[in-house]
Amino acid sequence: MSNDNRPNDKRAEATLIHIGIDAKHRETISENLSRVLADTHLMYLKTHFYHWNVTGPMFSSLHLLFEKQYIELHEAVDMIAERIRALGHFTPGTHTILAKLSTIPEDASTSIPDATAMIRGLLAGHEALSRSVRTAFKAAEAGDDQATMDRMVERMEASDMAAWMLRSHLETPNSETLPQVENLKSDKAEKRTH
Ligand SMILES: [Fe+2]
Repeated sequence: MSNDNRPNDKRAEATLIHIGIDAKHRETISENLSRVLADTHLMYLKTHFYHWNVTGPMFSSLHLLFEKQYIELHEAVDMIAERIRALGHFTPGTHTILAKLSTIPEDASTSIPDATAMIRGLLAGHEALSRSVRTAFKAAEAGDDQATMDRMVERMEASDMAAWMLRSHLETPNSETLPQVENLKSDKAEKRTH
């Protein structure tokens, strides 16, 4: 058997880590984090691409919204990658591997989508990213890895929020879903009598 501990030997480096999470869980968590990294990177690229190319009456607001979202995604990539390194594994970084790992579909057409199609595409992407993050959270929970769980909570909050902002461009507010003022008033009056 080889005693080769070269840095490119993934398992060899992983066995030298003693942070209270066993090697099997560190490997599973890192695989899940690699998918989150790939999805986050693909969403960063897609959002930046749309920031450049969006047109139409919503140009100003979408150009700025997409900018805010791609900056947030870009900053998240580094944090996710470095968490994988802290768990003793190497992080994927080439476009080919990230595209293969990602659950985010690339645009099938070579033409530029219209603004509404961009919003729908980014919304579907953030929802897919939220699902990947929740799966990674469960893997971290199974390995008793609170640091990764904490980071995944941050990422699911960001992705759910981004999805809400995009979805709100498509939905018409429905007054039927608002709390009924009359009901609130009678609750208050009832409380005062006690
Ligand atoms: Fe810009």
